[in-house]
Amino acid sequence: MRLFLDTANLEHIRHGARLGVISGVTTNPSLVSKEGKVNYKKLVQEICSIVPGPVSTEVISQDTAGMLAEAREIAKWAKNVVVKIPAGLEGTEATAALAGEGIKVNYTLCFSVNQAILAARAGAAYVSPFVGRLDDIGEDGMLLIQDLIQVYREYPEIKTEAIAASIRHPQHCLAAARAGAHIATVPYAVLLQMAKHPLTDTGISRFAADWQKVMGDVKNI
Ligand code: G3P
Repeated sequence: MRLFLDTANLEHIRHGARLGVISGVTTNPSLVSKEGKVNYKKLVQEICSIVPGPVSTEVISQDTAGMLAEAREIAKWAKNVVVKIPAGLEGTEATAALAGEGIKVNYTLCFSVNQAILAARAGAAYVSPFVGRLDDIGEDGMLLIQDLIQVYREYPEIKTEAIAASIRHPQHCLAAARAGAHIATVPYAVLLQMAKHPLTDTGISRFAADWQKVMGDVKNI
């Protein structure tokens, strides 16, 4: 499973890139808004220059014509930009048209396997099932990832990749990997949590203390 960072924060994206584990970025209108009143195009272009992999950014329009106009403009911003289009009839029609033009689509706000089937058949490069938001309403978000992956595997001609999205904690990430999600897009805080383990911290301290006792401050071998 590959890892994307789910944020529009440049500092966090730069750190993720330095860690060498992030192969893409996903944003949405809420995440962009968190950065204040920014120049949207400039921000997306900056993110695209930091991360060589796919950078998803979303349209605001709710009708097909508007989505198409926005998506065609966004697609010109950078080579690695991917346009997020929301699930639904309007979004499905827009996805099919954009895919036909060679524009990569991330079919977002996906909450059912049927929506994921539509994403695949419309030619979306990615589909984003939202795990945490299903958990929020008392459903099992991870079940959607498991079902979706199982269904996609039945049809090898499907090339759409599943991005486990709305990830809220490291356990979501682990479960998405076990279910075979192609990608998990993780918030920065979850990325930091993934690196942490108390036994790693105590292990480092203990090694340092043992070394210090015998070797003193000598660090070079
Ligand atoms: O990638 C989609 C994600 O940003 C949504 O997450 O936490 O707002 O449900 P959340």
